[in-house]
Amino acid sequence: QSSVLHKFKGILFSTMSSEELLNSLDFFSAREDDVFLVSYPKSGTHWIAEVIGNIPNARMSLTSPIELGDISKFDELKMNSKRRVIPTHLSYNMLPVNIKQKQCKIIYIIRNPKDTAVSLFHYYRDNPNLPGIETWAAFFELFLRGDVVYGSWFDHVLSWEEHKNDKNILIIFYEEMKKDPSKSIKKITTFLGINVNDSEINKIAQKTSFSEMKNNAAKENCDPNHTICALTSNRNLVFRKGAVGDWINYFTSKQRRVFDELFTEKMKHSELARHFEDNS
Ligand code: A3P
Repeated sequence: QSSVLHKFKGILFSTMSSEELLNSLDFFSAREDDVFLVSYPKSGTHWIAEVIGNIPNARMSLTSPIELGDISKFDELKMNSKRRVIPTHLSYNMLPVNIKQKQCKIIYIIRNPKDTAVSLFHYYRDNPNLPGIETWAAFFELFLRGDVVYGSWFDHVLSWEEHKNDKNILIIFYEEMKKDPSKSIKKITTFLGINVNDSEINKIAQKTSFSEMKNNAAKENCDPNHTICALTSNRNLVFRKGAVGDWINYFTSKQRRVFDELFTEKMKHSELARHFEDNS
C-alpha cells in the first residue's frame, strides 16, 4: 500500500487521520445540539454541507471532519461555540460512543454504489492524498474487496442500516435529492428543526445546484479550515460530473454481473439497498 494511507482496525484511512486520533474517538465529548453529516466517500457530502450552509439564520458552524488531524482535534472542536455541524466518513461502529449516547442528530447520505465506485475511482486518480491507480479495472477489484479508503461500501452501509429507523437519524438518497432537490432540502431543514419557507427552500436548491457549486469552487482559494472530506481541502477535486448513472460508461458487462452478484449476496437483508435495484 502507498504511504498516503494506513490501516486502522483493518480499514484504510488517510495518513491525515492520525492513528492516535482514531484510537481516541471515544474520548470525544459531543454536545446535544451537534449535527453529524455522515457518508461513505463520494456520496454527496459536500452537497449536503452546502445545503446546510445556505439555510438562513441557521446559526450553525461547519467544522472539518472529526477523524481529520491529530489528537489536538478535540480541543479545536471544543473552541467552537456555535451549533456544530461535523462531517465524517466513519462507519457506525467507529462513531464516537458519546454521539450515540447523546442521540445527536445525524444525516446519512447514501448513493448508488456503482456511481460511488466510479466517483471514487476519479478521486483516486486526481487527488494527491490518495494512492495512484492505473486503470478502472484495477480500481474495480479494490472497491469490490473493500480495499479502498474507509473500507467496503457494503459494510459501511450495513453498519448504518441497523439504525435507519432511529429517530435521530435522517437518511438522504443522492438520487432522490437529484430528482427533487427542494423535497430533500425540506426534509433536512425539518429534521434540523429550522423553519424555512418554500421560496427560501427553492433558493437553497438554486444555490446548491451542481453547476453553481462547481463554478464557485473554481473561483475560491482552497481553505483548510473549510474541509468537508478528510481526503482533501481542494474543492476543485470534488465536482466532477454530478450525475446519476455515469457508471454505465465504465462497467463492462462482466463487471456489472460480478458487482450485481456481490450486491445481491451482501445486501440481501438490506432495505436501504432496495432503492438501488432499478439502477443496477
Ligand atoms: P461525481 O464524481 O460523480 O461527479 P462527496 O461530496 O461525498 O465527496 O461526493 C462527491 C460527488 O458528489 C461527486 O460526484 C460530485 O460531483 C457530486 N456532487 C457534489 N455536489 C453536487 C451537487 N450539487 N449536485 C450533484 N452532485 C454533486
